[in-house]
Amino acid sequence: MNICIVYDSEGGHTKALAESIAAGAQQVSGANVYLQHVDEADVYSLPKMDAIIWGCPGHFGTISSGLKSWIDKLGYLWAEGKLINKVGAVFCTTATTHGGLEATLLNLITPMLHQGMIIAGLPGNIPENALYGSYYGVGITCPIEGNDLITEDDQALGRALGERVAQVAQQFTER
Ligand SMILES: Cc1cc2nc3c(=O)[nH]c(=O)nc-3n(C[C@H](O)[C@H](O)[C@H](O)COP(=O)(O)O)c2cc1C
Repeated sequence: MNICIVYDSEGGHTKALAESIAAGAQQVSGANVYLQHVDEADVYSLPKMDAIIWGCPGHFGTISSGLKSWIDKLGYLWAEGKLINKVGAVFCTTATTHGGLEATLLNLITPMLHQGMIIAGLPGNIPENALYGSYYGVGITCPIEGNDLITEDDQALGRALGERVAQVAQQFTER
C-alpha cells in the first residue's frame, strides 16, 4: 500500500506536521510512505499511490500558491480519471486560531473531490481530535512567537490522521 504526503512549507511548521502524519501512517503494517516537499513531488507518481495526503500553510484562508500551482498540474490525471477512488486527506497550519484553518482545509479538499477521490477526515472518536481538532483533516495553529515548531498535541493529531488514512487505504487495497 503506497501513501504519499505532499506539503508546502516556508518556515517548517507545515513540514513538521507532515512528518507527524508520515510517522502515523508508518505505524500501519504494509504502508510504504513517501513524504515530499511540493517542489520535489512528481505528479506522475500519483497513479501508483493508494492514498494521497496534501497540505500547506494557510494563505489568506486558502491554499498556498506553491501547492496550488502543483495541484494545477493534475489536469492530465483528472482527464484520464487516474486518481478516482484514491483515498485523500488534508492538513494545514496557520499563525492564528481564527486565521482560516477550516476554510483552508475545505479548499484543500475541493480539488480532491474533483479528482474523484474519497476523503478521509478525522472523526470525533479519536481522543486528540475530540479535544481540539477538526473533522476536515488536521489544521493547527502555530503562533509565530512559539518556541516549538509544533506542539506534542499537534504531533499527536498528525499521527492520528496518518494512521487513519493508512487504515482506510488498507481496507480498499484488501478488496
Ligand atoms: C502570504 C501569507 C499569507 C498568510 N495568511 C495567513 C492567514 O490568513 N491567517 C493566518 O493565521 N496565518 C497566515 N499566514 C501565516 C502562515 O499560515 C503560518 O505562519 C504557517 O504556520 C506557516 O507555515 P510554514 O512554517 O510551514 O511555512 C500567512 C503567511 C503568508 C506568507
